[in-house]
Amino acid sequence: DKANYRHFMAKEIHEQPEVVGQTLARYVDMAAKRIALPFELPFDFNDIKRISITACGTASYAGHVAKYWFERLARMPVEIDVASELRYREAPLRKGDLAIVISQSGETADTLAALRYAKAQGLHTVSVVNVPTSTIARESETVLPTLAGPEIGVASTKTFTCQLMVMAALAVAAGKGRGELSDLDELKLVGELIEVPRLIAAAFAIEPQIEKLARDIAKSRAVLYLGRGTSFPLALEGALKLKEVSYIHAEGYAAGELKHGPIALIDESMPVVVIAPYDRVFEKTVSNMQEVAARGGNIILMTDATGASEATVDSLVTIVLPDMAATFTPMVYAIPVQLLAYYTAVVMGADVDQPRNLAKSVTVE
Ligand code: F6R
Repeated sequence: DKANYRHFMAKEIHEQPEVVGQTLARYVDMAAKRIALPFELPFDFNDIKRISITACGTASYAGHVAKYWFERLARMPVEIDVASELRYREAPLRKGDLAIVISQSGETADTLAALRYAKAQGLHTVSVVNVPTSTIARESETVLPTLAGPEIGVASTKTFTCQLMVMAALAVAAGKGRGELSDLDELKLVGELIEVPRLIAAAFAIEPQIEKLARDIAKSRAVLYLGRGTSFPLALEGALKLKEVSYIHAEGYAAGELKHGPIALIDESMPVVVIAPYDRVFEKTVSNMQEVAARGGNIILMTDATGASEATVDSLVTIVLPDMAATFTPMVYAIPVQLLAYYTAVVMGADVDQPRNLAKSVTVE
């Protein structure tokens, strides 16, 4: 049932304040502002030397964001791999370490194989899945569910932000468990997580602007997405979403990599989406943006009010998102990224919910 929406993808994008809120409520004690995981973990984070995160597609980008969180909040080394690469390269995993697999369907063949590989090497296994009856859920030691509800649109949207919420809670739990975060740090971070559903809802204020912008994007041959820090995996996700549903070629890059190649692509016909909340790396990203502007590229800057006033560049469309603390911005900046892909596909008349050549669940490798 699409409710009043034209497509499941639109409905699922708009469900995010609610389902991210539901997921949050399963992982934190809202009154005490403490992390409260739904299950006790059968290991101590102090015994884990390294985390290996494995997933495919959008789920892998959620894992990529989480790597930054585990490193920052828990000071834990994290490796992130796409499952098809982990499974065949004989990665040396250490017995007793932690493997996390992330999967909406819980049936993705490569992700399942990566889980089995980690188990065979004697690692603890945690799966973050949306389908609790799935094979991946059944075969992993601990299941951390996303409470996104059924996702019908082939392109993942609400499950991505719910995966991020689970991984954020887990990273804070790890930081706390290892003594890297104090009680006060936990209180502050959980307070920030509690704000996220409301901030996601507020982010929809930019929807009419994105809808208009999509008419220009639909005329482009290719689009570049740039981001730094946790906005880098979001740039990868933005590019994936756009190519999946609109069939426009798109690439995501770490903003700092621009001058190492992709800058050669930039001309007046190239829209460049820059994801840059006003955070510790904002200034660096602005200087990459200036390099784009100097070559005539059309910049679409996704930022907040402070970022918008600090960014001094020409030929700029600015999408202003709600002000928020810097750590968990990917859950909010996912909204404009998803909406841009959605409306561009609608303008182009593409089959948004069933893009050509794609399957919702990839059960063959
Ligand atoms: C992108 C998308 C795919 C999936 C990937 C993993 O919109 O839907 O990239 O994210 O196939 O699927 P799951 O999460 O079911 O393992």
